[in-house]
Amino acid sequence: MRLLEMLSWPLMAVLLLSALRNVRARKCPRVCSCDSKKLTVACTGKNLTQVPPTINEITVKLDLKRNNLGDLVRGAFSHTPYLTHLDLRSCRINTVREGAFRALARLVQLDLTNNNIDIIHQESFDGLSSLKNLFLDRNRIEEIRPGAFSQMGSLTLLSLTHNQLVYIPNMAFQGLLNLQLLRLSYNSLNNLETEAFAGLLSLTRLSLDHNELQFFPTATMTRLVALTHLDWSFNPMTYLGEMTVSMPKLTHLSFAHMALQDLSVAALSLSPHLSHLDLSHNQLHYLQALTGTSQLQSLNLTANPLWCTCVLLELRVWARAGGVTLHGTCAGPPHLSDEPLEGVLEQDLRCRRQDGVMRMEEEEEEVQGTTTTPAVKKNDKCPENCLCEPEAQHVSCEERGLTKVPRGFHNNTLLLDMRGNHFHYLPSNSFRDVPRVVSLHLDGCKIHEVVDGAFRGLKKLVYLYLSNNELSSLGSSAFAGTQQLMYLHLDGNRLVRFPSMATLAHIPRLQELHLERNRITTLEPTGLLSPIPTLRGLYLTNNSISTAVPKALDPAPNLEILHLGANELTQVPSDALGHAPQLIELRLSGNPIRWIAAKAFQEVGKSLTHLYLDGQGLKKMDRDALAGLGPALLSLYLEDNQLENLPDLSPLTRLRHLTLDNNPLMCDCSLLPLHRWIEQTALNVSAVCGYPVELRGQTVMEVDVFRNCSSKTDHTTTNSTNLLEAPRSTKSKPLVLSAGKPKRKHRPTKAKPLVKPAKAASKKSGKSESSLNHHRMKNTKRFL
Ligand SMILES: *[C@@H]1O[C@H](CO)[C@@H](O)[C@H](O)[C@H]1NC(C)=O
Ligand SMILES: *[C@@H]1O[C@H](CO)[C@@H](O)[C@H](O)[C@H]1NC(C)=O
Ligand SMILES: *[C@@H]1O[C@H](CO)[C@@H](O)[C@H](O)[C@H]1NC(C)=O
Ligand SMILES: *[C@@H]1O[C@H](CO)[C@@H](O)[C@H](O)[C@H]1NC(C)=O
Ligand SMILES: *[C@@H]1O[C@H](CO)[C@@H](O)[C@H](O)[C@H]1NC(C)=O
Ligand SMILES: *[C@@H]1O[C@H](CO)[C@@H](O)[C@H](O)[C@H]1NC(C)=O
Ligand SMILES: *[C@@H]1O[C@H](CO)[C@@H](O)[C@H](O)[C@H]1NC(C)=O
Repeated sequence: MRLLEMLSWPLMAVLLLSALRNVRARKCPRVCSCDSKKLTVACTGKNLTQVPPTINEITVKLDLKRNNLGDLVRGAFSHTPYLTHLDLRSCRINTVREGAFRALARLVQLDLTNNNIDIIHQESFDGLSSLKNLFLDRNRIEEIRPGAFSQMGSLTLLSLTHNQLVYIPNMAFQGLLNLQLLRLSYNSLNNLETEAFAGLLSLTRLSLDHNELQFFPTATMTRLVALTHLDWSFNPMTYLGEMTVSMPKLTHLSFAHMALQDLSVAALSLSPHLSHLDLSHNQLHYLQALTGTSQLQSLNLTANPLWCTCVLLELRVWARAGGVTLHGTCAGPPHLSDEPLEGVLEQDLRCRRQDGVMRMEEEEEEVQGTTTTPAVKKNDKCPENCLCEPEAQHVSCEERGLTKVPRGFHNNTLLLDMRGNHFHYLPSNSFRDVPRVVSLHLDGCKIHEVVDGAFRGLKKLVYLYLSNNELSSLGSSAFAGTQQLMYLHLDGNRLVRFPSMATLAHIPRLQELHLERNRITTLEPTGLLSPIPTLRGLYLTNNSISTAVPKALDPAPNLEILHLGANELTQVPSDALGHAPQLIELRLSGNPIRWIAAKAFQEVGKSLTHLYLDGQGLKKMDRDALAGLGPALLSLYLEDNQLENLPDLSPLTRLRHLTLDNNPLMCDCSLLPLHRWIEQTALNVSAVCGYPVELRGQTVMEVDVFRNCSSKTDHTTTNSTNLLEAPRSTKSKPLVLSAGKPKRKHRPTKAKPLVKPAKAASKKSGKSESSLNHHRMKNTKRFL
């Protein structure tokens, strides 16, 4: 043994040396610059489409920014296991495949800023067990899958700003036990699930500024037991109720740049350590002494329309006694305007007859007569049978068997919930005494007639729920006087016509119109949406629409979502659509459309992102049926049809979901293009053969028939006419197989409703999560 070793030693030494020399010579890829002392490699701005395979394996810092990497495949970095820093900024990365970073157990910092990533998959960051800082800013992330971060127990900083997140699901950040700083600024968040932040036991700083949060989710936020700094600025919140912010360790809180009109004195009473509160740039006319905030040092009220009269005296006295510095100036009365709050003498904070809040209330058009000082918020007015929550300015008279709209509401009511009563009809001026109502709930009230002018006076109404009533028609002035209305729910009625242009002319700001489950038979006349050019979502599922006149829905300059499923259309209403340059989602599921003509989606091809053509008994698609659709399309739903083949999918370069389940595909050489396409895109498509009979039930990817197909059938050269013949009449009736074998994959990711059902919203106790708990449909492109 020993002898052998001694003999071979010199030989080994020689080999080793030459190997090392090779490494030196070879291991700096031509396009990179390498520092062999510091073990760093930089290959920036070289348009690289893959990670250079010859990078020295002992590299610790790798800088690849500004390249063209596309997909990060599994094991993309397996030959550089010693990396601690990896810079992948601006690399046009679309997808991080499962296990892409698996080899990088020593990586400490990963920067993926400014790429095109849209989903964080469960395994995207597998193996990064030492990672401390992860930057994912400025991508297109709209979804975080459960468990996405579960293996990242070392992470301390996670940055997700400037993405497209709409909501945060429960347990999204589970596993991040050491995370201290989480940045979610500049998304479109409007919903944080109760357990969204569960498990973030070390988090001290959280930024949620520049989102769409309309209320403060107390229960969700209370989970953050260690949080000291919270930035909630630039969210559209109007009110904070009692005990809304309940965060034991919180010291710094920003509610700047919101739309706060009012704030309960006890809103922060369960955050005893608060020392810095920023309420700058809101719409507070006054503020009372806050309770339960004994540690408060600084209260920033800059840029609020504060009226320095007797109503501010209490705040001033309280601030001085408690050592709270007030930042900001008076907006009035005139002799005190621009006076710093700290500088105004207490004896100047006086009320004379014409002073004070009365002044500011007068500015509101519909407030006349004498007013009480807002300090007297107590509300003694509440009709019998109703439950009034003065703090939240909500009133509920739900399911009280009422046959008439009650009177005697406090005129500051913002939300009026009268669901489940028996009104039968609504006379004109039914809501005279509640001029400030923003949200009115009249679902399930057996209403069969809305008299013209019924809602007159509701000048601030934004949400109107008339779902599940018995309306068969609407007068042309049904909505007169509600010119701010943006969301109208008329689903589940008996309407036989689309609301007339005269009716719609009263609600020119409408954004969402729900007409599901009515009896509408036709879309006419031309231009029926022209009175409501702001419309973004039109929901017509489950009517009886069989015809649509040409240009019925033209113009629709802002329409993003059109649901026409479960109607009686026999063809794609291409003519009706005309120009809808923003259309993102089109649902035609469940119509008896058997055949799709050439260029059916041409007009909307540039923008269309999600197309639902499932459950139609569809037999044939013209080979140009999808012409005009292209890179915008992310999902195409074709399951539960009778298709034997498909048109060329190659222009759909960004398609991410394709469902083909329950189609009797003809597995012969004509299907080769589809076979290849599935193979190339690596999409998880469940495509099953229906023909020939002997292959029935096998998946397209597992059958053997394509091996011997001549290259002529390659989709690049084929004429593909043969692909799209009508179903052969010689066969027995096509049989859709679900032979147990083909698994049902990829159910369509059902759109997550942004608009929380009103029920859930207004049923909340109303105290902490009060305020107007609606979710706007801004930016519906994040629907999926
Ligand atoms: C980068 O590469 C792509 C294809 O990989 C090519 O189309 C493009 O022209 C290249 N750009 C530059 C600046 O070299
Ligand atoms: C108060 O808010 C204003 C505006 O947001 C800001 O400029 C100022 O620095 C803040 N002052 C303090 C003391 O935080
Ligand atoms: C609102 O109610 C107050 C008393 O509750 C009354 O003084 C005031 O005039 C009312 N405003 C309107 C516009 O009705
Ligand atoms: C259509 O509405 C009816 C009655 O409300 C319901 O039973 C049916 O399931 C709905 N169909 C679809 C496809 O939604
Ligand atoms: C392919 O061709 C070979 C030889 O021509 C033949 O033996 C084989 O059975 C064919 N395979 C299929 C699936 O048709
Ligand atoms: C392909 O189709 C075109 C017309 O669409 C025809 O002119 C041409 O001859 C066809 N080629 C083959 C190989 O069938
Ligand atoms: C495809 O999807 C099915 C069901 O969603 C899943 O079970 C399967 O693992 C997926 N396959 C791949 C390769 O992703």
